[in-house]
Amino acid sequence: MRIAPATWQDEAAFYDAARPFWYPVARSVDVSTGSTKATTLLGEDLVIWRTADGQAAVADNLCAHRGTMLSGGTVTASGNLQCPYHGWEYDTAGICRRIPQRPEGTPIPTKARVASYPVKEQAGLIWTCLAGEDGAVRDVPECPYFEDEDWYFHVGTPSEWECQASRMVENFLDVSHFGIVHPDTFGNPEVEIVEPYDVSTAADMLSIDAKVPYLAQDPWGEPEPGHTMATVQVDYQYKCELPFTAWIQGLTAGEGYMLYISASPVTANRTTVFWAFGTPSSLAVSDDEIERREQAVFEPDRVIVEGQRPEWLPLDLTAELQMRFDALGVAFRKALEHHGFPRIAFLRKPTN
Ligand code: FES
Ligand SMILES: [Fe+2]
Repeated sequence: MRIAPATWQDEAAFYDAARPFWYPVARSVDVSTGSTKATTLLGEDLVIWRTADGQAAVADNLCAHRGTMLSGGTVTASGNLQCPYHGWEYDTAGICRRIPQRPEGTPIPTKARVASYPVKEQAGLIWTCLAGEDGAVRDVPECPYFEDEDWYFHVGTPSEWECQASRMVENFLDVSHFGIVHPDTFGNPEVEIVEPYDVSTAADMLSIDAKVPYLAQDPWGEPEPGHTMATVQVDYQYKCELPFTAWIQGLTAGEGYMLYISASPVTANRTTVFWAFGTPSSLAVSDDEIERREQAVFEPDRVIVEGQRPEWLPLDLTAELQMRFDALGVAFRKALEHHGFPRIAFLRKPTN
């Protein structure tokens, strides 16, 4: 079987559709006061820095003078980002405020500036929108309970996936692989049938809800007498916030938990997965334990998703098989297409 690659036109269409949304570009803790960080979002190289008064800023990682990467520079006491080559200084709006080679008082050319982008900090993450605040289709998706004093959240180590963000998020919304892909964690190999579940998509197609009951394996619990594994009945409350943020609240008879993810498209085929895991504070699960458990859940998903072809999630619903239990993924594909994400043509030969 041969799969036609996505073309540069497809890539441009993907970037155009993805641009008017907010994406996380770093964890807040990873950009400390006075530090800089290089990142890439939708194929654009960016620099993030934090001023002495705690404000985070995001701009193009490209000095207007000689194309030097500003992320190699330093943050001045006044909060400017100083280029590592000739020391030009840019403020948080991207405007050059100082050219050290020129006598004091000489006007600075208006072209001496770099594009800057709006910043919000929410759910322990630094978010930006390349289309600017006014160009954004929607606000940063909320993480329920994050500000709730009775909940504790661990903002996890971001992981790099060699896949399209759409593929990653669809996997997060896939409810029929648990027992097969996750038998070492929550997946229950004895539960194969997916009971019918309802999916509702908001009128603006910016959010999708579903509730899926599941008898999960509880690898950290004690099995009942006569059973080889501990199980727990969970209602998975799903929410997808288009395009690439989603969360699952695991509602149990006990305390429950919240897993929030946002897949940030580095390029059309590469994704950084930001995530936060919350539990009621009374459970007192350590950061290390949360990190270990969640990475053990994500890792087998990453291996599957990185191998999926075509690398681009097919939005043409006839391109793959859609089952009743794929309803959540189907709603996600429809919503992406509604918001202008491109279909790609690829060859798929049925086998005899
Ligand atoms: S290249 Fe940045 S100041 Fe010259
Ligand atoms: Fe999974």
